[in-house]
Amino acid sequence: VDVHVTLGGRGELAGQIYRQLLDAILDGRLRPGERLPATRDFARGLDVSRNTVALAYERLGAEGYVTGRVGAGTYVCAEPPGPVRRQPRPRRAPGAEGLSPRPIWRTLPLSATAASTPPAYDFGVGIPDARLFPFQAWRRIIARELRPSTFGSGDYSEPQGHPGLRAAIARHIGVSRSVRAGADDVLVTHGAQQALDLIGRVLVEPGTVVAVEEPGYPPVRHLFASLGARVVGVPVDAEGLTVSALPDSARLIYVTPSHQFPLGTAMSLARRTALLSWAQARGAVVVEDDYDSEFRYSERPLEPLQSIDRAGRVVYIGSLSKTLLPALRMGFLVAPPSLLGALRTAKQLSDWHCDSLTQAALARFIDEGLLARHIRRATRHYAPRHEQVIAALRHDLAAWLVPVPSVAGLHICARLVPGSDVDVARVVEEAGRHGVAIRSLASYCVDGPPQPGLVIGFGAIPTERVADGLRLLAEVLPG
Ligand SMILES: Cc1ncc(COP(=O)(O)O)c(C=O)c1O
Repeated sequence: VDVHVTLGGRGELAGQIYRQLLDAILDGRLRPGERLPATRDFARGLDVSRNTVALAYERLGAEGYVTGRVGAGTYVCAEPPGPVRRQPRPRRAPGAEGLSPRPIWRTLPLSATAASTPPAYDFGVGIPDARLFPFQAWRRIIARELRPSTFGSGDYSEPQGHPGLRAAIARHIGVSRSVRAGADDVLVTHGAQQALDLIGRVLVEPGTVVAVEEPGYPPVRHLFASLGARVVGVPVDAEGLTVSALPDSARLIYVTPSHQFPLGTAMSLARRTALLSWAQARGAVVVEDDYDSEFRYSERPLEPLQSIDRAGRVVYIGSLSKTLLPALRMGFLVAPPSLLGALRTAKQLSDWHCDSLTQAALARFIDEGLLARHIRRATRHYAPRHEQVIAALRHDLAAWLVPVPSVAGLHICARLVPGSDVDVARVVEEAGRHGVAIRSLASYCVDGPPQPGLVIGFGAIPTERVADGLRLLAEVLPG
């Protein structure tokens, strides 16, 4: 390896080289088995005599940090004699405070990511079953697309996204969700979250009022707050967002009408129409997040706001996180022409574009009909889980919980029976101790009072574990 050593401090040169190499070994920058530079080359690069470098190596060798033979190279020992720190230590002057972010960043939490040891019964929300991912087909397609033409001249490519992928997405959502869009209306993003970020960059100024659902999806709230928006939670009832409760000053309204997050209800047609009229009358933008409604367990869905909208006030967002995998970071937005130019520039300013290989592979995956097939197959796996959760809520758990009607997605919300005084936070904690990971509904409430209930995800948990997991949950509920 090429090791960076700086000479010129105090002490003789061999000592300086020795100390810096030792530091690199101790903090893990130089790993066991790695070869140190040949003494001749190293000496030339440092403009010192070869003897000076050899002296430093000999001392490291005598102390057991490196090993080597003349002519065969010098290597970091597999077992260094002293403890290894594993993390380079930043050099900081005593009392230095470092840099500080804007105050808002002190209040924004980091969402939980996958635990290193998964819980035995994982009712986590918004996680699909990674075992269902079509690895074989994906590997074949990635191999096929990994060729020079995918990368063109090697320069950056179109920020709006791979044209073939945009066309494939437009066709896919046109057929499956009746979204009215052509390839030119689609912009490919790194997940729904980046679509929201781009919309925020283009529409939100410090102080802009953004209305979000209460209860709702926390990362959206945090994102808009980070951009300086005044985020206001608007209550959701059985028909969806309460349009009459929207603050007049709201300029952007974020909703999940197909499958409200986290309650799971679908917004009624009357509410959809009322919301669009409200937005049109006040010049507001409606952001429609359709994050997981591809998985349906009964009746046809209502038309998305995007296809009912006649005034060009809706930006539609989709994600491949549930249908494929969150780690692929693939999503998209469909925007009216009035916003697309700015969104395309925002995408370029943010990260130029999504990775060309994944985009080309996804285009082919959709074109070959594999996404539609995968969704049908995954739905067949998720449907019995959905049924089992509903069945448990209607029987074993009925004394404590009432399911909120929901026919799509990967989670079901259940409210505490009215009048019950169960301490949900304690139940969640106790369930966790029994290996059952589950979220409280209250954890999605910010502006309103914490609503008592549970949100039960069934994407990650294998079908054969659902019933046992819910039985354990029933056991920790008070008798
Ligand atoms: C309401 C909502 N929107 C969007 C997403 C997906 O976001 P992304 O596509 O960035 O993974 C999720 C995932 O849990 C979600 O719950």
